[in-house]
Amino acid sequence: MPVVNDIAGAVEALERGDLVAFPTETVYGLGADAGNDRAVARVYGAKGRPAFNPLIVHVASADQAFGLGEFPKAARQLALAFWPGPLTIVVNRRVDCPVSLLASAGLSSLALRVPNHPVALDLLKAFGRPMVGPSANPSGRVSPTTAEHVRKHLGNKVAVILDGGRCRVGVESTVVSFLDDHPKLLRHGGLPRADIERLLGAALTIETRASRPHAPGQIDSHYAPRAELRLNADGPRPGEAYLGFGPFHTHGACSLSPAGDLVEAAANLFRLLHDIDATGVAAIAVAPIPHHGLGEAINDRLTRAAAPRPAP
Ligand code: TXA
Ligand code: MG
Repeated sequence: MPVVNDIAGAVEALERGDLVAFPTETVYGLGADAGNDRAVARVYGAKGRPAFNPLIVHVASADQAFGLGEFPKAARQLALAFWPGPLTIVVNRRVDCPVSLLASAGLSSLALRVPNHPVALDLLKAFGRPMVGPSANPSGRVSPTTAEHVRKHLGNKVAVILDGGRCRVGVESTVVSFLDDHPKLLRHGGLPRADIERLLGAALTIETRASRPHAPGQIDSHYAPRAELRLNADGPRPGEAYLGFGPFHTHGACSLSPAGDLVEAAANLFRLLHDIDATGVAAIAVAPIPHHGLGEAINDRLTRAAAPRPAP
């Protein structure tokens, strides 16, 4: 399948019910017509998602999103402040919402986002309708931050790959839910929690998967490279590759951010995991990462990548 920036060709593919990989500022998405049940079902199939986890619906503007979901005042305020951008807002569907129920896995709610990437916005405007867009990787694997990652892992499943270069943010969007009186943070992501809380003037309730009570070892394995991961490591052991943070000079080691900058580290995270994994190394040791700002999202992804894998 060609890797070209053929927006018209991508729109035709979406209209036929085919899948289109597209760049966003966070990670590459696997796009399909959100109003077409068969196309949405093909997304689950292509990713090999074991369960019908609800998908994020991408639209070209906040106004388009307001036509699909019931936005309370605070949700509207967030949308207007941060869209286009790395924020997903969960609200109740409007009664006349044309999005496939399969996209929201049968829930009466809907996750909506306006991505901040010129190619994604061109595609969404030209298509004119909502598009589902989970990350364009096989389920449980590292999310793609280049068109080449998509080609390598899902190339035979998509009609078109739009190439927008390397993703600027590098981790998925922050997910905030407005289904009851108090907004909840469902996923740490590319928009730091503090930015959202500052705008709302209130703290978010944190209900990420990792925050829910669980026995050790029960965190879902997700975002996983093939290599085993060892976290909070001050250096590599024999046979391990090392992923550092800050300046790190051992031969062959690389750093998420030589400058110790969390924004740069987020942007590099999935790409470096892909690159190190491609060397065939058995284990990757990762330096401790600070927990503030985008460190919350980075630590969330690393913890899940290091969690015990389901049996093959
Ligand atoms: O950055 C991103 O958000 C990327 C790019 C491609 O836009 N997309 C992405 O999509 O990560 P996806 O479909 O993989 O995200 C699914 C997550 C679910 O795990 C869940 O946390 C949340 O979005 N979600 C979707 N629909 C929901 C709903 N109705 N209620 C609660 N959470 C929902
Ligand atoms: Mg994903």
